[in-house]
Amino acid sequence: MIRPIAFAAALAAAPTALLAQQDGPFTLPDLPYATDALAPAISAETMELHHGKHHQSYVTNLNAAMERGDAPEGTTLEDLVAEAGTYPAAIRNNAGGHWNHSFFWDSMAPQGEGGEMSPELMEAITAVYGSDEAFRDAFEAAGAAQFGSGWVWLIVNEEDELEITSTPNQDNPLMDVAETPGTPLLGNDVWEHAYYLTYENRRPEYLSSWWDVVNWSEVSDRYAAALEE
Ligand SMILES: [Fe+2]
Repeated sequence: MIRPIAFAAALAAAPTALLAQQDGPFTLPDLPYATDALAPAISAETMELHHGKHHQSYVTNLNAAMERGDAPEGTTLEDLVAEAGTYPAAIRNNAGGHWNHSFFWDSMAPQGEGGEMSPELMEAITAVYGSDEAFRDAFEAAGAAQFGSGWVWLIVNEEDELEITSTPNQDNPLMDVAETPGTPLLGNDVWEHAYYLTYENRRPEYLSSWWDVVNWSEVSDRYAAALEE
């Protein structure tokens, strides 16, 4: 189907834009595809647990923290994340968990439906890493090297350059506590709950299989939006 580019970009950008404006009580977003749609890279069983139990726990615990006054009522998820270092750990961990997982679901699409990198993104990746393949190798290496639980990211950093980073626990590059701040374009979850049922302790195998389900159309739209900011 041919669709005007601006319209397609607006559609793709909508979930993240809506997420940023969300304030409490927070709710678990629906997955943008069926739980078995990402198999075999990610099994239905993993998706059901990851979305229905783990992500739900972050939402539930974030609402509990807000109810007991850990952060001012009505603070948006975007602001909770941006000011994470100023709040108790329950906000940092659970607002981060909610934001990161919502972003993660939108970063993926069923195999064959994720589109391709835009020419602009491909050009930027080639300029920094030499090739798409070399970029993927570097991203996988950063994900494998993250000690314990955390995330690996492709960001636009404060110099408007692409950079691969990783964060511990449920931190992310938008947080005031981030060692390497920036705008996330893509993030992979390297907590064991993301892959253990299928891959057991073989995190590198999960990282290399995950490319089959990356939504490059969404990532390319994020890149265009990040450069406009
Ligand atoms: Fe997770």
